[in-house]
Amino acid sequence: MDLSPQVLAQLAAVCPDGLLTAPEDLAVYGFDGTAALKQRPGAVVLVRSTQQVVECVRIAAAHSVPIVTRGSGTGLSGGSVPVAGCIVLCLVQMDAILEVDPNNLTLRAQSGAITQKIDEAAGKHGLFYPPDPGSMKISTIGGNVAENSGGLRGLKYGVTRDYVMGLEVVLPDGRVVNLGNACVKDVAGYSMKDLFIGSEGTLGIITEVRLKLLPRPAARRTMLAMFERMEDAAQTVSAIIAARIIPCTLEFLDRMTIRCVEDFARIGLPTDCGAILLMETDGHPAAVAEEAQQMEALARLHKAREVRTAKDASEATTLATARRSAFSALARVRPTTILEDITVPRSALAEMVGFIAESAARHRLQVGTFGHMGDGNLHPTFLTDERDHEEMARVHLALEEIVTKTLSLGGTITGEHGVGLAKKQWIRKQLGDASFELMRQIKMALDPRALLNPGKIFD
Ligand code: LAC
Ligand code: ZN
Repeated sequence: MDLSPQVLAQLAAVCPDGLLTAPEDLAVYGFDGTAALKQRPGAVVLVRSTQQVVECVRIAAAHSVPIVTRGSGTGLSGGSVPVAGCIVLCLVQMDAILEVDPNNLTLRAQSGAITQKIDEAAGKHGLFYPPDPGSMKISTIGGNVAENSGGLRGLKYGVTRDYVMGLEVVLPDGRVVNLGNACVKDVAGYSMKDLFIGSEGTLGIITEVRLKLLPRPAARRTMLAMFERMEDAAQTVSAIIAARIIPCTLEFLDRMTIRCVEDFARIGLPTDCGAILLMETDGHPAAVAEEAQQMEALARLHKAREVRTAKDASEATTLATARRSAFSALARVRPTTILEDITVPRSALAEMVGFIAESAARHRLQVGTFGHMGDGNLHPTFLTDERDHEEMARVHLALEEIVTKTLSLGGTITGEHGVGLAKKQWIRKQLGDASFELMRQIKMALDPRALLNPGKIFD
């Protein structure tokens, strides 16, 4: 579907050097990290200011054209996949870090700022921005807020929402609202900023963020524990939490994922073990030393065959980077990768991990499972080929079983990637009719013509 010459001319007048309409350019903006869900937009606008966003939104509203907002497109639920013929507003050029305020421990940035650059800017003041999604080297902060992204440090530090103090948002009719402020406490009315966090671009366009920072931890220790059996890794995680230790990171890779990561990153992971745990503790040096020692002892008690401690910061980064590459490494194996993001109460972890392996085996499917074990957040990743309809049917059977099991254990269909297109068939089942309708009412109140990211989260 093409946009009318009139719409294109108006967009060109607003962003003379930022309008893309050539088919080869549009193709590049047709997908996110869920490459299978692609669609061709009508135009892409690389905006540079809130004012340009406002004007584009007004044009879209006047002509009833849908808008899909995106940053780097690293999302994993199809949240920023365009609707055919829509206007894609791409915010990557709005990437300024506007202010680091070391007295209030806050940072303000435009929403196209890269997540890692935000942490680096904080680091220059001895401060720290904890949320670290797997894609933090390229993901944008606006995308992180829109999806309420998690990361490898969620166990101790929480997710993006826990660090958002304020937002500037362009509403579907072009009004600009400033929500939140630099106050540590604020209970004046509804927490409107929270409505937009995790709203996946369906309620407004986030153009600026104010974030909370923390003092940078003085010490950090990173360890890898290798296990013959996944059950022992899961038991180790339970034992660590039961010992009242909350490390910043407790991540795992299963056998299939270890092999793919090693094949990809070549850092010397043992490819014959059943599970690896990446464990990291940070904080006061004395506490870090004690926690590291306790975690190592608990891993050995649960039959870890080896526990390796990173000798310096660079080795720690290598280990964390290898873990971050899990999804990319698995995605190289087969043409189609279907990644889930289920999360269960931690007491149900071992049961859920076992169920995934059993279901995949019963349906004769290749699966690699990795994720944030300390958070109960698992990424079973099916390696398949969408051209093989018979195999895809088996994948869908396994997915349905896994989601049903997750919900029966009191879990959620998504811990950190969002609903987008990929999980929306299950959202009603998880929420129940009343909460589902409430969510729809909120959408209708803010965007009654469904112009912002239509078809995401729900139809
Ligand atoms: C990760 C992404 C896939 O945990 O969420 O690496
Ligand atoms: Zn993850």
